[in-house]
Amino acid sequence: MNRDIEVNTRTGTYIYSAGNGILSRALSDICSRHDCRNLFVIIDENVHRLHGERLRGIIENRSENFSTFIVPAGESSKSFSEWKRVVDFLLENKVRRNSPVLVIGGGVTGDLGGFAAATALRGVPLYHIPTTLLAMVDSSIGGKTGINHQIGKNLIGSFYQPAGVIADISFLETLPRNEWINGLSEILKYAAISDDEIFRQTGFFLDSSLPYYEHDHDDLISLICTCAEVKIDIVEKDEHERGVRAFLNFGHTFGHALEKECGYKTISHGEAVYLGMLAAQKLSLLTGGDAAGDKLEKYGSLYSYRVDKDALSYERLVAHMKADKKNKNRDIHFVLLDSWQHPVVKTVNKESYLKESWDVVFDRL
Ligand SMILES: NC(=O)c1ccc[n+]([C@@H]2O[C@H](COP(=O)([O-])OP(=O)(O)OC[C@H]3O[C@@H](n4cnc5c(N)ncnc54)[C@H](O)[C@@H]3O)[C@@H](O)[C@H]2O)c1
Repeated sequence: MNRDIEVNTRTGTYIYSAGNGILSRALSDICSRHDCRNLFVIIDENVHRLHGERLRGIIENRSENFSTFIVPAGESSKSFSEWKRVVDFLLENKVRRNSPVLVIGGGVTGDLGGFAAATALRGVPLYHIPTTLLAMVDSSIGGKTGINHQIGKNLIGSFYQPAGVIADISFLETLPRNEWINGLSEILKYAAISDDEIFRQTGFFLDSSLPYYEHDHDDLISLICTCAEVKIDIVEKDEHERGVRAFLNFGHTFGHALEKECGYKTISHGEAVYLGMLAAQKLSLLTGGDAAGDKLEKYGSLYSYRVDKDALSYERLVAHMKADKKNKNRDIHFVLLDSWQHPVVKTVNKESYLKESWDVVFDRL
């Protein structure tokens, strides 16, 4: 099963394609639109190691002369120095306004490569080829690109819509189990804020007898597309996050604070978001919401944490939340649930509620 979904934003219309083994055909389409005599590949180190040879075969068929930049794996690549290296690579290899740039990897490579494509020559045609579950359902969609600053995550960047997204699930064959679980967190987020049916579609994650890639591929593509549609719908309504796009941050106010407190080392984004959603569910209940039950909780056994909880400080966690770039002043804004699939943005400063919500996180570490 292959699916094409049109994405219409004010700054660009493009196709999000999902399927198995679709890259080759997609590349032919790209080369019919752009000058593939000068094609650029920005690729995650591990994806290059695991899929580089197969990719070279596909790309060489369409472009005799392509240039490859390998991005070191890990969040630390979302840096000034790595962004400069990518832009240097594009300019030194004579990127042109019509040269397609294929960014192949997870959210790190996507955010970094996307920002380089947005800024070189004030913008060159960017194609996201996400290779993690998280990138397929989330980071490749919606045009947010960027890098981190020592003051915080994702503080430098731009909104830059790609010219296309190609979610080819054949990459997922090599994805480690913990990265599937990272992607699951964002999928559960879509279920919580928008579509209860997604909770049913994620049931296979609880069956650990098979590698996740062995799950029915059509069901997997269908799940990815359901999630992509939730995000696309929100981004189309609110490209620059002035309203409903904030709902995509469900669990993230707590999650980002936890990631920061752990120095972005001992907890992954997905693990932090999962715990953040449990805390946000608790805060929703404390503030009068009606989203009780174990819809999120029942996935808890899939996560294993490496965090030294004695080294965490509740005061610092609250300070990190107050410093979040999404707050317009020192009040903390949360995406909470009035009920399942009914998100709402609320300001909560009441210390005892915050403490009780963080306790949900501490209890699980
Ligand atoms: N732009 C957005 O809208 C947006 C949304 C959500 C998250 N993000 C960002 O995304 C990043 C997280 O993305 P991620 O979870 O994809 O992490 P990631 O890019 O670091 O990839 C995770 C790991 O998987 C490896 N990998 C990637 N594809 C693989 C494959 N097919 N087989 C084997 N290994 C593979 C990578 O080398 C890496 O070690 C964060 O920086 C986050 O801020 C951005």
